[in-house]
Amino acid sequence: MIAIEAGGPVDAVEAEGLAVTVGADRALSPAARWAAERLGRWLDGYFDQLDFGGKPGQVAAVPGGDVLPFTTVYFAGVGDEPNGEVLRRAGGTVGRLAARLASLAVAVGDPEPFTLGLLLGQYRFDKYRSEPKPPRTERLVLVDGDDDAVAAAEHARAVAGGVRLARDLVNEPAAAKPAIEIARVATEVGEAAGLRVVVHDDDALRDGGFGGILGVAAGAHTAPRLVELWHEAPDPQGFLALVGKGVVFDSGGLSIKPAKAMEDMKTDMSGAAAVIGAMHVIGELNLPLRVVGLTPLTENMPGGGAMRPGDVLRIRNGKTIEVLNTDAEGRLILADALSLAAEHEPDLIVDVATLTGASKVALGEHIAGLFGNGDGAVEKLEAAAKRAGERVWPMPLPADYRAMIDSTVADMKNTGNRFGGAITAALLLKEFVGDTPWAHLDIAGPARASKDNGYTLTGGTGFGVRTLVALAEDMAG
Ligand code: BES
Ligand code: MN
Ligand code: ZN
Repeated sequence: MIAIEAGGPVDAVEAEGLAVTVGADRALSPAARWAAERLGRWLDGYFDQLDFGGKPGQVAAVPGGDVLPFTTVYFAGVGDEPNGEVLRRAGGTVGRLAARLASLAVAVGDPEPFTLGLLLGQYRFDKYRSEPKPPRTERLVLVDGDDDAVAAAEHARAVAGGVRLARDLVNEPAAAKPAIEIARVATEVGEAAGLRVVVHDDDALRDGGFGGILGVAAGAHTAPRLVELWHEAPDPQGFLALVGKGVVFDSGGLSIKPAKAMEDMKTDMSGAAAVIGAMHVIGELNLPLRVVGLTPLTENMPGGGAMRPGDVLRIRNGKTIEVLNTDAEGRLILADALSLAAEHEPDLIVDVATLTGASKVALGEHIAGLFGNGDGAVEKLEAAAKRAGERVWPMPLPADYRAMIDSTVADMKNTGNRFGGAITAALLLKEFVGDTPWAHLDIAGPARASKDNGYTLTGGTGFGVRTLVALAEDMAG
């Protein structure tokens, strides 16, 4: 784990590298000016050659040579308006360029977003490579840093830890993360963060009437689990329930997916990963709140025992669902978990799920669909996501669309018609939260990145962790 410390002025800090910021039109920050003056007059011409003007996203790495006590100085462009996202991206790019340095001094104004970007940019999933090259940075020195700056950077480190944990869970191949294994990891990291952990095994799921989870699990050779992670502060300012879709692998079941559509389906437990990651951070920050994280975990496979189109499942809260497409499985396991969440009578339920391709079609790869049942739940999520720097967009839940999931034999069916698929999925979920304020994030797009970008690397993004933590912080006051 990286160590964060307060350093003195830029001419006295000791580190291998130095990161400084540059505004629009090459406006050098004081620390950048200090370094530039020592480097010499050639630097301006060199910046010209690089076309480096201080725009957000630009980073010029310049050797310190004999004139500076740093091997490399990273001049990071932050433009006119160095907001959180600009600083996170700068941190991500610097973090990647500085991966081989053991220590880095940073003079960047707000250390929170920069540190977060740096730690996320230095994330690697290389456990399956014969020659892994993990980043070596283990010391971060905050130039002119005081206790507040260290606390801000430590907060970023805690959040980054949750995001990195979520990314690890998502990037792991499905064969290596059956529900039992994810439950084991959740127990281990949950207890390390001071959480109380309850794991429901197959017998408990049967006794508890979790027909949605059992229905989806019926076609798999691996057993399902439902994990409850509890954070219970002594004087709680509120009670929040988080629910995450944990489909370890989504083959589609008997309504099997085409090969191409299956390639990334180890990602289908990203909601559960986000909840486990967020619960870890909430425990570590010890927020004055009561929070429960629920993760229904199973594979969706077409084995001989698999549920069939036309089968009817009875969900935990007693309602029945006719399964017409076994590939619409996320809503089946979430229905059970949301029912249980509502039984706990929290102030707010939030679920996070890679639920529908339709959401990805509507909003693209970078924005999550946000749904909710009123009482300010959507507004709370929107505010938290904004503060955390994750992109969400509010979507409608029109009551008349409910008719699209009317079944001829059960209380509802698990698919709508061809259009509005993200909405009909959300309308089904709504049936299982009762009167509890509820918000739903469809993260089918942003859960996974198809290329490296700033502080996001190809693969699992850990999307949702930052928003859920920010929401819990908002509730904790
Ligand atoms: N896990 C998928 C949704 C998904 C698709 C997530 C692409 C990420 C990328 C979900 O279980 C699914 O298969 N949904 C179906 C629903 C349909 C059968 C009603 C879909 O979106 O096609
Ligand atoms: Mn599916
Ligand atoms: Zn799925």
